[in-house]
Amino acid sequence: KLPTSVTIKEVGPRDGLQNEKQSISTADKITWIDSLSESGLSYIEVSSFVHPKWIPQLADAAEVLKNIRRKQGVTYAALVPNLQGLERALNVEVDEVSIFMSASEAHNRNNINKTIEETYPILEEVVKEARAAGKTVRGYLSTVIGCPYEGAVAPAQVRTVADRLFSMGIDELSLGDTIGVGVPTQVERLLEELLPHFSANQLAMHFHDTRGTALANIVKSLEMGITIFDSALGGLGGCPYAKGASGNVATEDLLYMLHEMGIETGVDVDDVMTSARLIENIRGEKLKSRQMEIEAAN
Ligand code: HMG
Ligand code: MG
Repeated sequence: KLPTSVTIKEVGPRDGLQNEKQSISTADKITWIDSLSESGLSYIEVSSFVHPKWIPQLADAAEVLKNIRRKQGVTYAALVPNLQGLERALNVEVDEVSIFMSASEAHNRNNINKTIEETYPILEEVVKEARAAGKTVRGYLSTVIGCPYEGAVAPAQVRTVADRLFSMGIDELSLGDTIGVGVPTQVERLLEELLPHFSANQLAMHFHDTRGTALANIVKSLEMGITIFDSALGGLGGCPYAKGASGNVATEDLLYMLHEMGIETGVDVDDVMTSARLIENIRGEKLKSRQMEIEAAN
């Protein structure tokens, strides 16, 4: 009853780098993304058109989008918070637009400086204009299990916000355990709330691995029919506006598990490891994924 194939969406260049303290040069980002493009990944989230004051590391989003080598069959996406961000993204021909908000009020305010109610009309316009420009739109919903400020988030609250986002016309919704607090029983309750209303192939899971539960949560999601997962090379990542949020589940660790389970991804593990070594050298710091640690020990 497990799916036979899944789609992995690589968010390393965006989620992985947005929290990075040392500044990574535009040229290095481009080199890294170009190497990711050669690994069989079909989706790469390249950067983010948010306010450069809020996320200085990604202030070069336009330069990156303009200069990467686009491989046919790969979708190059970026985060967009508002119409101003959309305009910047459309100028450099982003393939897919990702809007984002949170299920919890306090994280939404901290992250995008708006209440949940204030956010809806802004995103609604973004979705409308993005679709008018012929782009597909991905939605992100953060803090779907726990919020760093408010604690547990009720599945019914997630459904309420998800309903609004789908009614705006998004194509897919990625559910974020932003601070990596979730465990499989909570993932089950969340998906039991959502799956009667939204189809499994419109939902993606985005697990940060703060407490080492991401792979367990992914197995639970697979069992419930989810086939789209976000991950970041080397387990990089975190949300600067969520205290204690650490990296995403590592792409190479996810690939190991899926492939050993007989689930296809179309992604080449050796190529991904090459790409991981590349970003490791650029950052000058050992990556903490299991696969990279195993490689370093051998
Ligand atoms: P704001 O300050 O409330 O915006 O920020 P504003 O509309 O009031 O505008 C204020 C100023 O910002 C104006 O400039 C605008 O022009 C400018 P001024 O007149 O003062 O010179 N501005 C912009 N400039 C460039 N690009 C833009 C833009 N928008 C406004 N797009 C805003 C609101 C949303 C922009 C801000 O809060 C922001 O950029 N937040 C970034 C938050 C962020 O990037 N968080 C991390 C990503 S989300 C995440 O990591 C979670 C996820 O991974 C899933 C998960 O793990 O759960 C996706
Ligand atoms: Mg994230």
